Amino acid sequence: FTVPTPENEPVRTYAPGTAERESLQKTLAELAGTQLDLDMNIAGQWRRGTGAEIEVVQPHKRSHVLGVTREATDSEVADAVAAAKAARRDWAAMAFVDRAAIFLRAAELISGPYRDRINGATMLGQSKTAAQAEIDSACELIDFLRFNVSFAEGIYRQQANSSKGIWNRTDHRPLDGFVLAITPFNFTAIAGNLPTAPAIMGNTVVWKPSTTQQFAANVIMQVLLEAGLPPGVINMVTGVGQAVSNVALLDSDLGGIHFTGSTPTFQHLWRTVGENIAGYRNYPRLVGETGGKDFIVAHPSADPQSLAVAMVRGAYEYQGQKCSALSRTYVPASLWKSGVRDAVVGMTEDISYGDVTDFSNFGGAVIDSRAYAKHTALFERLERDDKATVITGGSADDSVGYFVQPTLIESSDPTHELFSDEYFGPINGVYVYDDADFDQVVRQAADIAPYALTGALFANDRAAIARTSEELRFAAGNYYINDKPTGAVVGQQPFGGSRGSGTNDKAGSWQNLVRWVSPRSIKETF
Ligand code: ALA
Repeated sequence: FTVPTPENEPVRTYAPGTAERESLQKTLAELAGTQLDLDMNIAGQWRRGTGAEIEVVQPHKRSHVLGVTREATDSEVADAVAAAKAARRDWAAMAFVDRAAIFLRAAELISGPYRDRINGATMLGQSKTAAQAEIDSACELIDFLRFNVSFAEGIYRQQANSSKGIWNRTDHRPLDGFVLAITPFNFTAIAGNLPTAPAIMGNTVVWKPSTTQQFAANVIMQVLLEAGLPPGVINMVTGVGQAVSNVALLDSDLGGIHFTGSTPTFQHLWRTVGENIAGYRNYPRLVGETGGKDFIVAHPSADPQSLAVAMVRGAYEYQGQKCSALSRTYVPASLWKSGVRDAVVGMTEDISYGDVTDFSNFGGAVIDSRAYAKHTALFERLERDDKATVITGGSADDSVGYFVQPTLIESSDPTHELFSDEYFGPINGVYVYDDADFDQVVRQAADIAPYALTGALFANDRAAIARTSEELRFAAGNYYINDKPTGAVVGQQPFGGSRGSGTNDKAGSWQNLVRWVSPRSIKETF
């Protein structure tokens, strides 16, 4: 059999006056009105953690507590690891069609009855607008589930060959151990993909979501159980993760890590695994997507209007907190001075941000006090910096929520921190170059940052497109020509980067799923 390639889930608009907007608004009111216990789930059972309490708040209304989660203790993480080990044999032995049915059913549940709940949880807990939640927690998550099933089937189909008297075949076994999935706050879809991708390939998982994403993570877990996931296949633990480091990371049966988050955290995990390497039965597979310093390089032949729109949408949608968000732009003086600057400043100053339950807002708040403090520290540094000028933005206010103004900063120094450091917020650094220096600027852009996640080229000159794309070949794992560097779609642009941005095991593709199998080659002689 073959699984047909799925269609991408259609995006709802939540336009004023529609039933879909009314229904989402009703769910938002319900979710905001109940303070939930955000418990962990081990072996299919909901369990209240016994460690310290952590309040989960609305970032745009920080006095509003959405729920309380609790730090998992070492013994609770040990229970999750034991549950994952106990479930391994039956799960690995289950026919792929039966495993697949569970994830396809989860996709249907999110597409239908759970859509408002998961979007509402993402809006309130992660400060996403309805439009940003819809493309993440509904469409991208549904796409991950459906496409991964079809990619998995493609892997299992790579089966056998024979010659006279010999019958060779491949047994696509899961890893010989459990997988640890550690997921970030910024995409509910990633939080759903990281534990389910290894599970689709027959692995069992210990999953630790970000505490700031725990509200939506509980909805994902609920959906998976309702879809029929057997107990112990995915075990979700809560908290900041010290117990995960103490226990799961050092367990001799650790088969792999599926991670998205900061570069220092991934380096910590890698280092810990390295130091403990003799303590594992297998070399754990380490798959991570980490930081970025995503760029646009504009050639003098670029279309000014589409460049300006890409600069605003790329840098400021979801407050610049997509891993793919634009944070540095290289613009030729001819374009900058003849209208691009004015257009970008005008659109940026028109951005309305605030409470995301007000559907007229373009944005919300940054995720928490730590993210907020990083931005106020940058703004203070810039006040004393004669090499950078804030063109618009540059202020922040946390009296109600963690609000950071969409900010555009110009610097005449291409080695300025604006072009190499990750802030993970609504900050776009602009370097304006003399048109004749284009080739030199491209080389600088390619190598100044220690990351290589996303990047875009704006140009209409075909020869420049070809030459520049070659020069930027290793500067971005997701590379766009005449489009913003955000918004990769599952099944269309597999996502991931190299250098400090990760292991580039493309999320939403067969390249990711093959990391979760440990094939056995079988030769039978007659
Ligand atoms: N898929 C997300 C994007 O490309 C990460 O923006």
